[in-house]
Amino acid sequence: MTQYSSIAGTGAYLPEKILTNADLEKMVDTTDQWIFERTGIRKRHIAADDEFTVDLAEQAAREAIERSGLATGDIDLVIVATTTPDRVFPSTACLLQKRLDIHGPAAFDVQAVCSGFVYALSIADKFIKTGSARHALVVGAETLSRIIDWSDRSTCVLFGDGAGAVVLSASESPGILSTHLHADGQYDDLLTVPDGIASGRHKIKSGQDANMYIQMKGNEVFRMAVMTLGRIVDETLEAANLDKSDIDWLVPHQANIRIINATAKKLNMPLDRVVTTVDQHGNTSAASVPLALHAAVSEGAIKKGDTLLLEAFGGGFTWGSAIIRY
Ligand code: COA
Repeated sequence: MTQYSSIAGTGAYLPEKILTNADLEKMVDTTDQWIFERTGIRKRHIAADDEFTVDLAEQAAREAIERSGLATGDIDLVIVATTTPDRVFPSTACLLQKRLDIHGPAAFDVQAVCSGFVYALSIADKFIKTGSARHALVVGAETLSRIIDWSDRSTCVLFGDGAGAVVLSASESPGILSTHLHADGQYDDLLTVPDGIASGRHKIKSGQDANMYIQMKGNEVFRMAVMTLGRIVDETLEAANLDKSDIDWLVPHQANIRIINATAKKLNMPLDRVVTTVDQHGNTSAASVPLALHAAVSEGAIKKGDTLLLEAFGGGFTWGSAIIRY
């Protein structure tokens, strides 16, 4: 019996267009210095007008499949984590399946905002461990630029577009050692896009409305993120029976360098063991963890046998972690 799932390949895609802090200085009342000091972000990628979440997902997915040495026909589960699906339905996972010419296996989206990829990875791991799938394609893909109010300086400087993917395959050896998922819906008003199409509210309003875009109480989100991620680090290490010093790489959600540094401190990890892409990508929500993972893998930083701690925190609130022997 298969005991584990393990990462067989990773992939990533970032749209060509880059928006720098200097560009944002021309759009809202902000400065490169303010953005960099408070968040660590230098630039982010923005999807072209004719580029959609499934386009980003497809590029990342094709690279992950190619690097895994498998063919699209070997994939028997497709999960896409996204907060910005192109349609109400079909799911982005079904749209992606069509692009990849995969027919029959289960395909569905996961909506857990910035924790979406860790949620999707955990679900795929369980499918594989129970023998329901052998080669799962797990994607985090976002076009957050479409749900941002570009006149709101408190949010528009933070986010970017992109996609990351992994192929998770059945394996006799680890692999994913454990995953941990949590949510607490009572904080829904701290980080939200209040309106959805099914609310019907767009029909009685005219024109643009702030409720169609990301709204955030940044200070409170920051505090909750630092506290919650600190707790989940303890929970994860204990469940895997590992010590802080056993972790080779922290692969965190890339929202803010100060949140990342706080988690690294909790783990006593030197910053050169923390994968950081927030400066280049901004916060790409569900895409951020697989983008960071792929960056470190393709640079040769993460090597076979390394122990990785993935963690994320996002709207909901949701949070989660995965401990992986790469
Ligand atoms: N440029 C310049 N000034 C800005 C600004 C910008 N882009 N955005 C906000 N400000 C101003 C505020 O208006 C405020 O001005 P005031 O003191 O005159 O009222 C001041 O900067 C401080 O704002 P504050 O919100 O207290 O700053 P902060 O230190 O908390 O940093 C965030 C703001 C958003 C960077 C920070 O709260 C954060 O990162 N929060 C977590 C966000 C996050 O991770 N979200 C996703 C979770 S998945």
